[in-house]
Amino acid sequence: MATAQETHEYPGELNDVPGWFWPLDQVLFSWFLERQERLDTRGDLLELGAYLGKSAILLGHRLRDGEKLTVCDLFGAEPPDAANRAEAAKSYSSLTRQAFERNYLSFHDALPTIIQAPSSAVVGEVAPGSCRFVHVDASHLYEHVEGDIGAAKELLGSDGIVVLDDFRSEHTPGVAVAAWEAVLNRGLRPVCLSSQKLYGTWGDPEPVREELIAAFRGRDDIAVTVEQAAGHRLVRTRAKVKRLRPPSLPSSRHPAPVPSPSRAR
Ligand SMILES: C[S@@+](CC[C@H](N)C(=O)[O-])C[C@H]1O[C@@H](n2cnc3c(N)ncnc32)[C@H](O)[C@@H]1O
Repeated sequence: MATAQETHEYPGELNDVPGWFWPLDQVLFSWFLERQERLDTRGDLLELGAYLGKSAILLGHRLRDGEKLTVCDLFGAEPPDAANRAEAAKSYSSLTRQAFERNYLSFHDALPTIIQAPSSAVVGEVAPGSCRFVHVDASHLYEHVEGDIGAAKELLGSDGIVVLDDFRSEHTPGVAVAAWEAVLNRGLRPVCLSSQKLYGTWGDPEPVREELIAAFRGRDDIAVTVEQAAGHRLVRTRAKVKRLRPPSLPSSRHPAPVPSPSRAR
């Protein structure tokens, strides 16, 4: 069946927006961002690689007064090298900035700050130490991800959270190399892992890790296991059921019509 995007309809809910932002990560993003709100951790939000806006729309939902969301994406602009060009042609050939903006504005009154450029441009545009949450989900090639992790380190404040997408997917070995290299050699401390993403910090991981374990062990829809590797505590989270209890999601201004109840005969 054609998706809402293929038929150029507006998304009726977040999960109508095409992308790779799965329910467990929607729960985890929300948990990390809500915890920062609870602790009054201030700072901006940054996403490298927005595609059609699925994860950016959720980030925008958690912005507080005075905070800013910045997204950086090529949105069809010329990639900086041949390998990145091949990646874009294979996976994102129909992406347009206009489609991102249409989706984003279906849920929010104003657009985020958009940097339409290779992700290496963010360090010149975003102030060092100004962010509390950075989602690294642009190119999945080692040379780019390695640079994006360096940018995240520079732009995050002390206890900020970085999320690395596709750190263990079969088709993205470069992300795996960059992610574990950051853990082993660049001071990144893993807080937890989902099936797709590694959540980490360059601050103290223990308080947030302990809270996360306690919070998620109290849920019957998510499994949590803990193991040690190379001196790091790795907290794995996994969806136990198909339909997770969803977090608070932003509402679309174009909700799908509610089907009328069938008439009793
Ligand atoms: C996996 S998608 C992002 C998915 C999105 N975060 C979501 O959850 O739906 C990767 C995005 O990164 C962008 N991208 C690829 N290479 C890039 C680069 N060098 N700099 C900036 N963006 C890039 C692509 O245009 C694409 O939109």
